[in-house]
Amino acid sequence: MEKGCREVKGGPACTMDRLADPVGIVILGASGDLTGRKLIPSLFRLYQNSILPERFFILGAARSKLSDEEFRTRMLRWIERERPGEFDRSRWNGFAARLFYRSIVYDIPESFRRLSAHLEKMERDTGTGGNRIFHLATPPDLYETIIVNIGEAGLAGNRNGFARVVIEKPFGRDLESALKLNSTILRYFTEDRIFRIDHYLGKETVQNILLFRFSNSIFEPLWNRSFIDHVQITVAETLGVEHRAGYYEKAGVLRDMFQNHMLQLLALIAMEPPNLYDSQHVRDEKVKVFQALKQYDRHSLPANIVLGQYGEGEINGERVPPYRSETGVDHHSHTPTYCAMKLSIDNWRWQGVPFYLRTGKRLPRKVSEISLHFRRAPDHMFRKHGVTITPNILSFVIQPEEEIKWSIQTKVPGSRLCLNDVGMTFSYRQHYPTSISLDAYERVLIDCILGDQLLFVRQDGIEMTWKFLAPALESVDEKRISVLPYMAGTWGPPAAEELIRRDGYCWHVK
Ligand code: BG6
Repeated sequence: MEKGCREVKGGPACTMDRLADPVGIVILGASGDLTGRKLIPSLFRLYQNSILPERFFILGAARSKLSDEEFRTRMLRWIERERPGEFDRSRWNGFAARLFYRSIVYDIPESFRRLSAHLEKMERDTGTGGNRIFHLATPPDLYETIIVNIGEAGLAGNRNGFARVVIEKPFGRDLESALKLNSTILRYFTEDRIFRIDHYLGKETVQNILLFRFSNSIFEPLWNRSFIDHVQITVAETLGVEHRAGYYEKAGVLRDMFQNHMLQLLALIAMEPPNLYDSQHVRDEKVKVFQALKQYDRHSLPANIVLGQYGEGEINGERVPPYRSETGVDHHSHTPTYCAMKLSIDNWRWQGVPFYLRTGKRLPRKVSEISLHFRRAPDHMFRKHGVTITPNILSFVIQPEEEIKWSIQTKVPGSRLCLNDVGMTFSYRQHYPTSISLDAYERVLIDCILGDQLLFVRQDGIEMTWKFLAPALESVDEKRISVLPYMAGTWGPPAAEELIRRDGYCWHVK
């Protein structure tokens, strides 16, 4: 191709579809919510779209005593409930025939030895060649017991195929527990066989951040302190704690959203171009961002963080109770459900550029958006006309719509000199109306089957994010920092407005 000559192609530039090897997936915690809400509906949709390998089986395991048939019926109900519009009844029987159940006692090693014999038989019957994935969908306090029992039963090392383990967040509750959990896992599985899920990384628009940055040459030269004034990341939810108080009371927003989803989004925006688009190089660069985060201590933290807890209020026209009255929540709970934080990245690219991150439950609308606010153009030539220039903003809207928005200044037609801020929007739904897009869980599940770790979190990244958040976690756990009330249906405590306003900005998402 000549330099500067644009080759017109018939379609998009894609990698080849990779063929997945046959596999047996063992879901531990199969009678729980996560299996019914996310894992089985996602696996079914992958099957429905012929993305799963030809030879596979799914073995659900949990404490409850269920027959294969009872398990299948339960899973069918979940799919009908979770994916009402997409369910193809004609594909169900084929899927159900590969769905099995076995009861297991997590803390009894003998139970896992029996599982081992059972698995070997299933593998022979189904021809999956000994490839196994253990997906831990249990409460996190069972992870270590289960891993040890998997390992001691000889299930982690396989004679023929691969053995991988999938772990759902939270990966520990602080640096110390994350290190301990990891050293237990590493006794039986090498890092290349450990798949730690952060489902935000499977979202289409989140993946697109890197492709957008590194395949459009017009943006990357501007992606630094010389042109970007500040960055905002908002992940707002309307839901409250739902039925998860048992977990959430101990986690709070910092462990539930910040240590993982929020800091992962930040890393994708801030990282340097990797040498290669593969799991090692991309994750190396993300880790460098975490290394460069300016660490707060107990003294510098309070001026840079606002924590909140939702009170009573209104969401979509309906009254909702305060956090402290939700089922299972302590009436005097100090658990934060909201956090806004100002962060700095101490490296060449981002020196002096503030990053404002906020996330919370019971906010006015569900929206996740990252916005890059460019420096204002010099406006001296318009000053005498009383015209001010609004800085450009580039936004990645992750949900509810998947969009990229670019705000630019245009002249309003007419005799007067008027500038107007207008938007150029690229919408995934409009542009790719017929593409089968995988939802976040589908994407990470198939990547695990394919053995691609790019969208999974590596241990060094986890350690660094826990370390960064340690002063905040300790301040909350020891009740040394205020958790301010906010009304459900508002954008958090007024102090969060103050946090950004004192630097001369306001939150972009309203
Ligand atoms: C989960 C958190 O990881 O992410 C939940 O545990 C939160 O508390 C959820 O509601 C948000 O995910 P999404 O995809 O709905 O934005």
